[in-house]
Amino acid sequence: MKIIIAYATYSGGTQAACEYLSQVLTSNGHQTTIKMISDTIFEDLLDYDLRIFASPTWDFEGKEGQPHQDFITWMENNKDKKLDGKPSVVLGLGDSSYAHFCGANSIIEEFIKSVGGSIKAPALEVDAYLFNMEENNKKISDWTNTFTP
Ligand SMILES: Cc1cc2nc3c(=O)[nH]c(=O)nc-3n(C[C@H](O)[C@H](O)[C@H](O)COP(=O)(O)O)c2cc1C
Repeated sequence: MKIIIAYATYSGGTQAACEYLSQVLTSNGHQTTIKMISDTIFEDLLDYDLRIFASPTWDFEGKEGQPHQDFITWMENNKDKKLDGKPSVVLGLGDSSYAHFCGANSIIEEFIKSVGGSIKAPALEVDAYLFNMEENNKKISDWTNTFTP
């Protein structure tokens, strides 16, 4: 499959998780592209068999449980575009000590559906990635089996 991973990060965790995810997918024979969401042209997403959106959950303008601000801007700028039923999945990094654990996931999924995309598999919630990389990488690796053949 031809897969694009579009991500944003504040402290590097989501980038590291996406690089690991890309390695797993590549070693399983998929062709993978990684881009920051802020550099992602919406129309280019249509060229792939699968889209993976990856964001940490953070505060935004005093509101808890939000996607990275680059996602918020990008979704706002692209809310009138169309994904034409094409499948996507969402990878979320968070910390379960917060009230809205991985709250960004459902917000990004709602965006995908609102532009006519489909959700191929349940989103993954990754807890404290940088503090527990080995176990979390195993979760990420297992998760790829839910949306790839
Ligand atoms: C100010 C701040 C707010 C956060 N808010 C949340 C939150 O509401 N929900 C959550 O699950 N994680 C929250 N987190 C945890 C981050 O999402 C988590 O550390 C994540 O791994 C960061 O990813 P990044 O390294 O890609 O930026 C917050 C972290 C900080 C520093």
